[in-house]
Amino acid sequence: MENIINVKNPALTNIVTKLRDINTDSYLFRKYISEAGRILLLEALKDEKTVEKKVKIWVGEYRFPEIEEERYVFIPIMRAGLPMLDGVFEVLKNAKAGFLAIKRNEETLESVLYYDRVPPLEGKNAVILDPMVATGGSLDYAVKVIKKKNPEKIISLNIIGAPEGLKRIAEKHPEIKVYIAQIDERLNDKGYIIPGIGDAGDRAFNTE
Ligand code: URA
Repeated sequence: MENIINVKNPALTNIVTKLRDINTDSYLFRKYISEAGRILLLEALKDEKTVEKKVKIWVGEYRFPEIEEERYVFIPIMRAGLPMLDGVFEVLKNAKAGFLAIKRNEETLESVLYYDRVPPLEGKNAVILDPMVATGGSLDYAVKVIKKKNPEKIISLNIIGAPEGLKRIAEKHPEIKVYIAQIDERLNDKGYIIPGIGDAGDRAFNTE
């Protein structure tokens, strides 16, 4: 699982504990998800290249390094990935966003695509945002949909994963990099991560 990067960052670890806490209300839950997205992106960017850019400064024109922000396209997987968007835009303000809605059939646990509003991705770096990697079904599906749009590369930012789901992604998509805050113990018979945080979408949007 070389492409699965278990990010070690105490600020991120602290946030995951807040997310696990059942007393964290949905407003704070969204804020913590957003902050986790911000930190995960900062960690992922450590592996990215900068380019030299001419900048006019007070003593003339100089060349300085910068990130090609507009090459990044954030793709939150609706709905649980949506709160990560604020956090990542704080880091790359000129990035773009596209949206994918993937639902899982709670009986078969199969993924179903029901909304695709992702812009063309040729020459772009697609950054998938999804807090949970449980069976890996939605992420696998999202990567397949995104690959058809020919991006330069795909990065996935995730908060909690189960070993089963991460193994599936590592085997099926070894060329994408997955940055994840914590790898939990296992899935239960309903496909929820144990210990996990429960249903991230329901907790973020105060539904059941
Ligand atoms: N989706 C969630 O929101 N939580 C899980 O534990 C598994 C999938």
